[in-house]
Amino acid sequence: MASSPIFPFLRAILTVALALAGVVVLFIMYYMSLPSPKCYSAPTHQTNKPIMLLWFWPENKMFDFRDCKRFFNIDSCHLTDDRSLYPRAQAVLIFHRAIQDDLSNLPALPRPRFQQWVWFNMDSPTNTRRIAGIEGLFNLTLSYRKDADIHVRWKLTVKKEVDEDFVLPKKERLLCWIVGDSDLKTNSGERYTYYRELVKHVRVDVIYRTSAESLKGENYFRNISSCKFYLSFEDSIHRDYITETFNGPLAAGTVPIVLGPPRKNYENFAPGTSFIHINDFPNAMTLAKFLLKLDKDNETYLKYFNWQKFYTARPHLTEERHEFTHAICQACRHIGMNKEYRVVPDLYKWFLL
Ligand SMILES: *[C@@H]1O[C@H](CO)[C@@H](O)[C@H](O)[C@H]1NC(C)=O
Ligand SMILES: *[C@@H]1O[C@H](CO)[C@@H](O)[C@H](O)[C@H]1NC(C)=O
Repeated sequence: MASSPIFPFLRAILTVALALAGVVVLFIMYYMSLPSPKCYSAPTHQTNKPIMLLWFWPENKMFDFRDCKRFFNIDSCHLTDDRSLYPRAQAVLIFHRAIQDDLSNLPALPRPRFQQWVWFNMDSPTNTRRIAGIEGLFNLTLSYRKDADIHVRWKLTVKKEVDEDFVLPKKERLLCWIVGDSDLKTNSGERYTYYRELVKHVRVDVIYRTSAESLKGENYFRNISSCKFYLSFEDSIHRDYITETFNGPLAAGTVPIVLGPPRKNYENFAPGTSFIHINDFPNAMTLAKFLLKLDKDNETYLKYFNWQKFYTARPHLTEERHEFTHAICQACRHIGMNKEYRVVPDLYKWFLL
């Protein structure tokens, strides 16, 4: 067949197209054979979230790092306990109580320029061991103190609108207290001395912490909600040292009777009408008489819950392994949002005085 002049032209196009297709197929095959990014174990290859390394598990209380997202919707850092990530960690969280006296269990490698060490301590000064040589090591503080870089506390939140729906939980007992199993008769410390005075004038239902099951999770709040008053006695008295023992009754619908820093300090964190301070009374006997009177005067008692119209107290995490979860997640949030340069000049001067 005599070739038309158009035929060689078509053939040329076809050849080029085939060659191109071949190149494309080869390229795709080559690309597919590359290791997929998913094969890398460190998620930082996919995200640019800063790494926060938990150097010690506080008291071995381990939890799932995903709990930060689950409980607090915090997902702004890559939390890890994998020490091999140290050179790339933006922040290293160091639990004070776990530091050895000779500092030998602190990170040994030099600190990268961008890295911040976080001093992590939820204890009060009374229970904080002084370790020589750590004063100038840290860049951030994580504590219950209001002036810490990362302030950890179960704060009341403001309600979006006035809420008149508060229902007082059913009350079966007047005054309750959850304590460790130690001997209430011989224990020293301000809270025990006060208790021994108080109990001469009013019945206190003491619940031992080791009767664990009835205090786990929801049960804890249910249990104390059946008391009209609860002894929110702190183990030592320091500014801002107001712990879950105060948040618990607020969240449960019970009136906390507080022993701790002055009333003014409590009022930095909760309305003054939401609690009773032992210093509102000259002694334990007058307080006891006041409670017995309130027991018969429901109208006045209910006034202690007026704040519920405006604020919500969130039940804190009560499981033992979650004791430090809130603090660690708060640190994660801070690291994810703030990257400023900072040095804590003298840790003890700040914390212990
Ligand atoms: C609270 O816990 C104590 C101690 O386990 C138990 O005796 C009591 O019945 C509990 N009360 C309520 C209302 O759950
Ligand atoms: C952190 O603190 C150390 C020790 O004071 C200091 O040398 C370092 O420059 C600080 N780093 C950052 C990122 O703030």
